[in-house]
Formats: sequence, structure tokens, C-alpha cells
Amino acid sequence: MKILAIETSCDETALALLHGSGSLAAPKFRVLKEAVASQIDMHREFGGVVPNIAKREHLKNLPLLMKKIFPASSNTEIEDVDFIAVTTGPGLEPALWTGITFAEELARKYKKPLIGANHLEGHLYSFLLSKDKVSFPAIALIVSGGHTLLLEVKNIKTWKKLGETRDDAVGEAYDKVARILGLPYPGGPEIEKLAKRGNGEAVAFPRPMLHQKNFDFSFSGLKTAVLYYVREKGQLSEKDKADIAASFASAAIEVIVKKTMRAARETGAKHILLSGGVAANTPLRSALNREGKKLGAKLVVSNKKYNTDNAVMIGAAAYMNKLRGKKFSKKKLRAEGQLGI
Ligand code: KG4
Ligand code: ZN
Repeated sequence: MKILAIETSCDETALALLHGSGSLAAPKFRVLKEAVASQIDMHREFGGVVPNIAKREHLKNLPLLMKKIFPASSNTEIEDVDFIAVTTGPGLEPALWTGITFAEELARKYKKPLIGANHLEGHLYSFLLSKDKVSFPAIALIVSGGHTLLLEVKNIKTWKKLGETRDDAVGEAYDKVARILGLPYPGGPEIEKLAKRGNGEAVAFPRPMLHQKNFDFSFSGLKTAVLYYVREKGQLSEKDKADIAASFASAAIEVIVKKTMRAARETGAKHILLSGGVAANTPLRSALNREGKKLGAKLVVSNKKYNTDNAVMIGAAAYMNKLRGKKFSKKKLRAEGQLGI
């Protein structure tokens, strides 16, 4: 099946044309075309994503990306599409609706079925876009600017939520700590770079919820601890900043890795499926890889472009929905407002 997929849940406008084949138990995907317009530069001066700016940019970018996917000369290609896939949430409400309305118009114009996909299922299914063959049970760790989620994946189509963040997502905590240290948005890569020059044991920041029996996370207290430490310290040298970044990162990574390993141990996981924008973090990947090996659970991470928000993962999740017989229904839409500033 040829799928035209649309993603506009946050600050990336993304379109993809992909081919999905195989059964629910063994789906296969081939990417035909993909295009992403990042809005990071637009939001940078605000230190985070502004929902109405995101909406305006999606409205501007969607027709431009359509031209990239379907250049005028091959307009007939859209006739070959079997269905249109669109993210239905969670995400920033004005941003989501822009993509949904655009997808509805295309579906009407070209008389194509419309299939919705949950953004988090998109992240989860990004492992289907990697070369690794995954065995189950597995643990999925979804870490982004909006989510921090641990799932027990019993098989390719069944999973259970084990835990999630009770306040800030881990990417959000990286972004906020970066702001405290005067670094630009998005803060994750900046903190990672700065932390390399610092000592992760210089400041004993808290490890929130590490010793609680559940699989939930909390990063807001950790971010506040950084804020108080910085206020107390007053003038910061470059060395101080690097030590703070490294100490914050060690605290965040320790909690994530220990909780993920406990989940893997308790469920007998054979694989750990890491996804979301924070999956780009090298110390996090190395720690999950190293600790996972000790348990016989292999780390699987897709290509970086399928971990940041993209439409290919949405096409894959929608293909799974199609095979499950899920219909697009406006009543079930989860265009929730969240994040943003
Ligand atoms: O998945 P994503 O592109 O968008 C959301 O759905 O949120 O994730 C973006 C988040 C941002 O918070 C960004 O700071 C974080 O991922 N991030 C990182 C790194 N690269 C991106 N966090 C830590 N280390 C990184 N290298
Ligand atoms: Zn995302």
C-alpha cells in the first residue's frame, strides 16, 4: 500500500510517501519520499514552541512540502496513493488541527481513505524503520520534548504503559536547564555538548523517584534544584556551567536507565526500543546499551531522522491501524493542548 503521511503535532511540518506491506505480525516499510520543514529557528527566540506560531508555519509549509513530494510533473502519483495518514494527537492543538484539516481536504479532493495515527505510537513504531529484527517481550522508552514513557511491548501489536513522567518530559527538562544556563533552544544537544567538558559528580543533584517501586518519572524537581543551585552560586564560570550541565545530565540519565533496566528485568525483555528526540543523546544510548547487554536486552534505535518528529513513523503507525481495522473518527481525535509556553 502506498501511504501519504502527514505530521504536524509540534514544531516540525513533515510529509512522507512510503510503501507498507506485510501482515500485522511482520510489516515492512519502504520510504519513497520524505520532507521535513523544521521551525526551530522561529521558536528559538521564545525559548520553546509557541503553538500559534507553529500553526502559522504549518499552514505555510504544508503546500510547499506537497510540491516537494509531488513535483508538478508527476502529479498523477497522488492518484496511486492508497490512503492518507495523519497524526491525531497528542500534541499542540492548533498545530494538530492544521494537519488534520489539510489531510481531510486532500482525502476529499482525491477520494482517498483517511487513517489517523497516535503520535506516540508513531515513535514506538519507529523501530520498524530500523534494520534490526526485534523479538518480544520488549521495553519501549519514548523520550522527547513532550513525553517520557515506558511501555511493556508484549508483541508487535500489544503493549501496556508501565510508567510516564508526572510533570516535565526529559527533553523539556534539558531545554529548561539549558535556558537557566543561558544556552539556546533546543537545549538537549547544547547540554550534551557542554556536559562533555564538565564533571558529572561535581554537584549532587537529586535523582527523583529513583527508589520508588513504580515506573514513573519526575524531572521538574531536578530542574528546580539546578535553578536554586545557580541562583545560590551567583556568577558562573565556564567550568561551573559545564559541571552543572554534566551533573544534571548524570542525574537525569541515571534515573532513566535504572528504571528502564528494572522494567527490562521484571518483564524479561529481549530488546529495549528507544525513540523520541532525546534518543539522539549519546551518553543515554551508551548507558542503555551497556546496561541492557548485562541483562541480555539489546538496544534498538532507529536512524536519527526517525526519532525526531517525522511523517514516516506516522505512516507506519497508520498502516498498523489500517491492518487492525481502525477507522478515522473525529469523535476519537485526541488533539490535546499541552506543552507550549
Ligand atoms: O521528539 P522531538 O524532536 O520533539 C518532540 O516530540 O518533543 O524531541 C525534541 C526534544 C527537545 O526537548 C530536545 O532538547 C531534545 O529532544 N533533544 C535532546 C538531544 N537532542 C534533542 N535531549 C538530550 N540530548 C540530545 N542530544
Ligand atoms: Zn514526538
